[in-house]
Amino acid sequence: GNPNAKIMLIGEGPGANEDQVGMPFIGRAGQLLDKMLLSINLSRENIYITNVVNYRPPENRSPTDKEIQRYLPYLIQHIEIISPKILILLGSTALNTLIGDEEVISKARGKWIEKKIGKCNTSVIASFHPAFLMRQPAQKAMSWIDLKMIKKKMLELKIKIGK
Ligand code: URA
Repeated sequence: GNPNAKIMLIGEGPGANEDQVGMPFIGRAGQLLDKMLLSINLSRENIYITNVVNYRPPENRSPTDKEIQRYLPYLIQHIEIISPKILILLGSTALNTLIGDEEVISKARGKWIEKKIGKCNTSVIASFHPAFLMRQPAQKAMSWIDLKMIKKKMLELKIKIGK
């Protein structure tokens, strides 16, 4: 990812492929993510990608609350360092970690939330995780709505994406 990017995206945690290579979203979910980004003319050069936890939970299980809380100070510092104008949360783990536990992704997605995370004021939007979309392809229609909202916000905030 580009550390100068104005857009930051947060997933859940590395899978086996990501763990081996040390990069986020390089497996099957990552390939779908690339297509989603490309649909609004974004690529990895225009965006900074990380995960709620940056080590791989055994057996691909979701990170536990304890693991998430232990990692959270680093995630918040990470957001402060990148200082994105737009923060995209993919899936319920990222949503619950950064916005709160009362939300379900199907209700919380597709809405802008102005939020201060650490020292960073940013516009946050949650959407479906690409791994979820692979299991529930009908939800791609909702995902497309969210992607268009992100494109619109980029225009509003005059975020330029030089190639
Ligand atoms: N799923 C995630 O949430 N993050 C990755 O990096 C890969 C798959």
